[in-house]
Formats: sequence, C-alpha cells, structure tokens
Amino acid sequence: MSPSAFTALLEAFSEPVLVVRETGTVQTANSAAQELFGKRILGAQLRAILRQPEVTALLERMIDGAEQGCAPYATSDASSERHWKVTARRMDADTFIVSLRDTSDLEAAEAQRRDFVANVSHELRSPLTVLAGFLETLQGAAAHDPDARSEFLRIMQAETERMTGLVSDLLSLSRVEASARIRPRDPVAIDMVLNATLAALRPQIEQAGLEVVRDLPDDLPPVPGDYDQLVQVYHNLIENALKYGADGGKIEIAAHVVPRLPGLDGPALRVAIRDHGEGIDPIHIPRLTERFYRVDRARSRESGGTGLGLAIVKHILGRHRGRLIIRSHPGEGSTFETILPLS
Ligand SMILES: Nc1ncnc2c1ncn2[C@@H]1O[C@H](COP(=O)(O)OP(=O)(O)OP(=O)(O)O)[C@@H](O)[C@H]1O
Ligand SMILES: [Mg+2]
Repeated sequence: MSPSAFTALLEAFSEPVLVVRETGTVQTANSAAQELFGKRILGAQLRAILRQPEVTALLERMIDGAEQGCAPYATSDASSERHWKVTARRMDADTFIVSLRDTSDLEAAEAQRRDFVANVSHELRSPLTVLAGFLETLQGAAAHDPDARSEFLRIMQAETERMTGLVSDLLSLSRVEASARIRPRDPVAIDMVLNATLAALRPQIEQAGLEVVRDLPDDLPPVPGDYDQLVQVYHNLIENALKYGADGGKIEIAAHVVPRLPGLDGPALRVAIRDHGEGIDPIHIPRLTERFYRVDRARSRESGGTGLGLAIVKHILGRHRGRLIIRSHPGEGSTFETILPLS
C-alpha cells in the first residue's frame, strides 16, 4: 500500500488511530488522534502522553513483542470526563497500531440503567415493607381488633395503589420511549384535552378549594399529536399545580399561538399552567424532569407521587418535537409552559 493510501485509510476512522514504532514513538496519527492529543503527538513517546498505569503497561507489553491487548484510559477537561478503550495490535515486526474508542456514552447509559433499577427497587421496597408489616400485625396482635384492622387495611390499600401507580407510570414511560421516533400526527384540539383533564381532576380541584381560570381562545388550531399522551401531559402538570401550588388559591391555564420561537421552524401552540403556590428553588429546576426527582421526597410520596410525572411529560413533548419551559421563584408560584409545534 502506498504511504498516501495508508494515510487515507487512517483518516477514514473517525476515532483516534496511531501507528507506533517498536521503540514506542508515534510514527503516524490520524486527525482524530491529533485533535485529542495535539500535534505534539507525532514523533513523541506514546507512554509519555498516555500517562496512565494501565496504558503504560499495555504499551510496554507491545514494545516487548506482544501481539495485541487493550486497556482503559480516561481524559478530562474543564467540563467533562471521557472514558476510552485503548486497543493495540501488532502490524509487523517494527510497528503496532493503537486505536482509542470513546466509551463514555456507553458507560453513562450503563450508570443510568443501574440508577434506574436501584430507584425502582427502592420505590417498590418501601410499600412492600409496609404491607408485610401490617400483614403480620393483622395475623397477630390486631387479629381481633376491628378498629385497628380497618385502619391497617386502609393503609395497605393506599400502599397498593402507590405500587400500581408506579408500575403504570413505568409502563407509560417505556411506551413513550419505544415510540419516541414516530412523530404523532392526529389533529388534536388542545382545548378539548384541557377540558377533559380538568373534568377528570374535578374532585381534587374541589377538595383543594382551588379556582381554575381558563384563557382558551375559541379558534385555537389543532396540533398534530397523540390525544391520550397529551392528556397525560396536562393531567400531570395540572395535578402538580394542585398538589404543590394549592396554597396560592387559584391556577391559571392559558393557551395561545406563538408565531415564531427560536429553534422552531414555524408557529407553535403555547399552553401555560400557572400556580401561585410556594414555587421552586432555581437549583431544582433543571433536574425536575429527571426520573424519580422530587424536591421534597416525603411530601411527594405522601400525595402518592413517584417523581416520574415530569419525566413522562418531557418524553411525550419530545416525541411531539415540543418542549417544556419551567419558570418559578420561591414564594411566587410556578409556570409550566408547553410548546407544541403546529406543523
Ligand atoms: N407546580 C409545582 N410547584 C412546586 N413544585 C413542583 C410543581 N410541579 C412539580 N414540582 C416538583 O417537581 C417534582 C417532580 O414532579 P413530578 O410530576 O415529576 O413528580 P411527582 O408529582 O412527585 O410524582 P408523580 O407525578 O409521579 O405522581 C415534584 O415532586 C415537586 O417537588
Ligand atoms: Mg406529578
């Protein structure tokens, strides 16, 4: 192979690839490698640049004549840490090839999966512990105490409902994720969605003694969407306003068309749900849409919450190519705004 063909071959790899002499100095490096380590890499001792024990050991084995091997390597800059898998393979007696594969995303996904499983297990364990405890009491100490029995059964029912709620939230999250790439296109009348949601939440609204102020123009255009999923979005947002913003006395729901927004091609429908409750500390806002994230775990739990609601909202809006904007100041209530593109 001609030297220029060989260079072209190395350039065809988007990940860093280096050709190293048996002495350990770098003979050739493709652009990705030069970008990662700088041009100083050419002619340098690779050990002096990839200065981490496992990589050094790998390079020494290769210099000693090993056929192949791999080692983990980590780089970091001010904003992020990246993980790499370094693979070395002998090319001929005098040279070997070293390539780096970026495994950061894989590792992040793996960590996320572990967190998720830990969270789900934790959320299921507490109601199960309560159920097990009460079952034991009902069979023993409280077996002949009708008052205690009905109180315990009430608590057991609430815990069972919490588990059912968690499982159905998990199922809807996975359904939304599974359909994330398919953009829904049925014409959906948002005022119908909002009115249906408010009707379903009527008992809770009355119980909280809240006034709901609607500002829904008659001529709202339909949005391309999935009716049931959009009901889920507004159900959670309005329910949150009820649960966490009830002290404010009223919630306002307003919808209107916005002609242009940065990042969107055409007009969009903006729906704002505003409460006048206690508001949210700004440090929590960016994390609210994470699964299981709750500002006040105990309090959300008391009201049967699992912290999956806003994660589901975010996924559904993402599927609709829309977004969620959260504005809040402690003591001044919160506004949750959905933006749904009209075309
Ligand atoms: N309108 C609001 N005012 C103040 N805090 C809010 C409001 N909406 C949401 N939050 C905070 O955001 C957290 C996450 O909300 P999310 O809807 O994801 O979960 P949840 O309501 O606790 O549980 P779930 O929706 O699964 O029943 C809540 O626990 C609460 O701390
Ligand atoms: Mg919620």
